[in-house]
Amino acid sequence: MDIQYKADLNRHLTFQVPAESTHFVQVESDEELKEALKFSKEEKLKILLLGGGSNILFINNYEGLVIKIASRGIEVISDDGRKVAVAVEAGEIWHDFVLRALDEGWGGVENLALIPGCVGATPMQNIGAYGVEIKDVMIWLEAISTESGKLRRFSLEECALSYRESIFKREEKGKWVIVRVAYSLDRKSPLNTNYGAIEGELKNIPQQDRTHRDVANAVIKIRSSKLPDPKVIGNAGSFFKNPIVSSEDFENIQAKTPGIPNYPQSDGRVKLAAGWLIDQAGWKGHDRGTHGVHDMQALVLVNKGGATGKEIWQLANDVRDSVENRFGIKLETEVNQIT
Ligand code: EPU
Repeated sequence: MDIQYKADLNRHLTFQVPAESTHFVQVESDEELKEALKFSKEEKLKILLLGGGSNILFINNYEGLVIKIASRGIEVISDDGRKVAVAVEAGEIWHDFVLRALDEGWGGVENLALIPGCVGATPMQNIGAYGVEIKDVMIWLEAISTESGKLRRFSLEECALSYRESIFKREEKGKWVIVRVAYSLDRKSPLNTNYGAIEGELKNIPQQDRTHRDVANAVIKIRSSKLPDPKVIGNAGSFFKNPIVSSEDFENIQAKTPGIPNYPQSDGRVKLAAGWLIDQAGWKGHDRGTHGVHDMQALVLVNKGGATGKEIWQLANDVRDSVENRFGIKLETEVNQIT
């Protein structure tokens, strides 16, 4: 086990902010992970798991052991000629897995193309885009207990995935390290083009000729036009979650804010677009020199070069206060903060 001390984390973080941890280790297998967990216990170190580093903002340096999950592997566990079940190691890059699925002709994840991050993070916050969420294709996941070092399999139901939520962000927070995830893919899965912009991109391809790859290409085009490439400009995707409010609260808000985009949920509540609220509050394209609010999508905060985590966090708080003053809605962050 190669423990690094006073490790520079910058290159592991898509926000590209300066950050250090007192201890750092990269693990490539369950065994190496167990060893790292044992070390953290012996040395009485706090631990922090890092996958793709695409949903995290370091406001301060980290006193403890950062464990970077770098396991690789995609294993077909069953294939009936149409449906395929695959178990994917947590350290695989999500988008690379989507490309592999497209090459193999496996449908189900094409709408989730280009989402930054690793496979292990996908159930954590039930990643989703363009009408599909990971809960639509996930079968189970395996995780190692940070306490006992033992492996446990969680069924999809046990993970309680909902909009940007899972048990791993709530009651089981900090207790497990996800090491692999199994997905069910389908060579003939119906295409999901309900999200308006996708249908628009595909309008020149006749319905019967459309493929999973066409949908992925449409998603890649839409995402690239709105969302900054973290390799070029530091960011962590949507900084805030879309708020979900009760139907009474929604009626009050709508009365004061006609035209507000809204997405009724199956439980009667209503999801609102945080990007729209932030945009209306005047923040889209807001520029603080080294950082700001993305000019194509107000939900994304960007590090244009040289910003610190503290500065970005200050901007996030200013945005949040302003939306609350204007609309009475408290935005919750989607990005995790290390304070
Ligand atoms: N809108 C604005 N101004 C903006 C941004 C959005 O008016 O600056 C409006 C749009 O016109 C639209 C509504 O807000 O009416 C929703 O916008 P959009 O369809 O772009 O999606 P979103 O709700 O802003 C969510 C996800 C994205 C995902 C897209 C597509 C969350 C927090 N974000 O964004 O996920 O790619 O839908 O499915 O749910 C991410 O999580 O990092 C992420 C990028």
